[in-house]
Amino acid sequence: MPLNKLDIALQQEIEALKAEGRAKAPERVIVDYIPPRGDKGPRYKLQGSDQEYIRMNSNSYLSLSHHPALIEAADEATRKFGVGPGAVRFIDGTFHYHVELEARIARFVGKPAAKIFNSAYTSNLGLALAINNKLTYWIGDELNHNSIIRAMRIANVPRENKGIYKHNDMADLKRCLDEVPPHIERVVIIFDGIFSMRGDYAPIPEIVELAQRYHDKFKDGVITVVDDSHGIGAFGDTGRGTSEFTGATPDVIVGTFGKAFGVNGGFVAASETIVEAIRQKSDTYIYTNPLGVADCAAALKAVDIADGPEGQERLRVLHERTKQFRDGIDALGLESIPGPHPIVPLLVRDTQKTHQMVNRLFEKGVLVVGLTYPVVPRGDETIRFQINAAHTAADVDYVLSVLKEFA
Ligand SMILES: Cc1ncc(COP(=O)(O)O)c(C=O)c1O
Repeated sequence: MPLNKLDIALQQEIEALKAEGRAKAPERVIVDYIPPRGDKGPRYKLQGSDQEYIRMNSNSYLSLSHHPALIEAADEATRKFGVGPGAVRFIDGTFHYHVELEARIARFVGKPAAKIFNSAYTSNLGLALAINNKLTYWIGDELNHNSIIRAMRIANVPRENKGIYKHNDMADLKRCLDEVPPHIERVVIIFDGIFSMRGDYAPIPEIVELAQRYHDKFKDGVITVVDDSHGIGAFGDTGRGTSEFTGATPDVIVGTFGKAFGVNGGFVAASETIVEAIRQKSDTYIYTNPLGVADCAAALKAVDIADGPEGQERLRVLHERTKQFRDGIDALGLESIPGPHPIVPLLVRDTQKTHQMVNRLFEKGVLVVGLTYPVVPRGDETIRFQINAAHTAADVDYVLSVLKEFA
């Protein structure tokens, strides 16, 4: 049994994670979906229980996953082309859906071109592999998503070619720009549009303005990249994301089809040349199968819907419910981080109490995410709620009524 020794070593590592409180809880398994009825939005059943749950921890902000047009599009694509691409993109694994989705998402976010990936995670990685070289310096917000941090590591960015600024602190971003060594030729400022644990947003106009100020200092300039995975589709007057909300657009936009659009997959939208560099240089484009046609067809439909009157109506409902929930939290005297995004963090600031509240919400049929020490520093313990367009006003009131016990 050659794996015996490795199993033992890994078991010890898992035990250590458990002892530190960093281990993931067992997965809850969804076994049934109950469509909206009366004043109730969708409900879910979990394995081993007959209770119905409201998902207040889903990224599916526009609630498009069960939309008949998406299901039909996925179905039609599958019937015509089957369930797998059979090869990577450049070895005849490219179907017309891939190309159409790239053109469609580029148009939606207002960029000349886009490349799609299996996820936003592999999009960040693909981007980093395409634009990094030995003379590239990366500057990022300290709260950037794991996919950005991991992308830099996988792209072999050395420590001395990285700067980290305090969350949304523009004076600190300026310090990072001032500290870029003079031999550097290319600077990339990369940040989340919406910070997924807090629901707050990056001050894009200030970031873009700083980038412009330093642009001429470097041979290839300073480019700005937003990962707007939680913004695209859900934020801004027409769902164009954090750029639309703040009024300034970075050079590159990374996003996902797996959140507001309710499907799966990711994209990088940028200039034609950056997108062609991705095609030539990115391992996550070159060496792995693309998104399946069913996901592409559904995502195309989702973008079309988001871009039309139905999307606007869903966005309006999303904003209305978010406001209802945020106002309710305020009225109960509970603490949150203010802002208009449907990610609503409830700051509990105590590990024990966070566990109690999460458990109580679960007992009452509400699924949420609790972040406790040591995953977050002591004092920052939070419960993350996420509103989506399928939540009814009664659903939101119900969740608030459970929270009232803790007010
Ligand atoms: C900022 C950010 N980037 C990327 C991702 C990953 O998205 P995907 O599931 O499409 O890989 C997430 C989601 O967790 C995110 O919040």
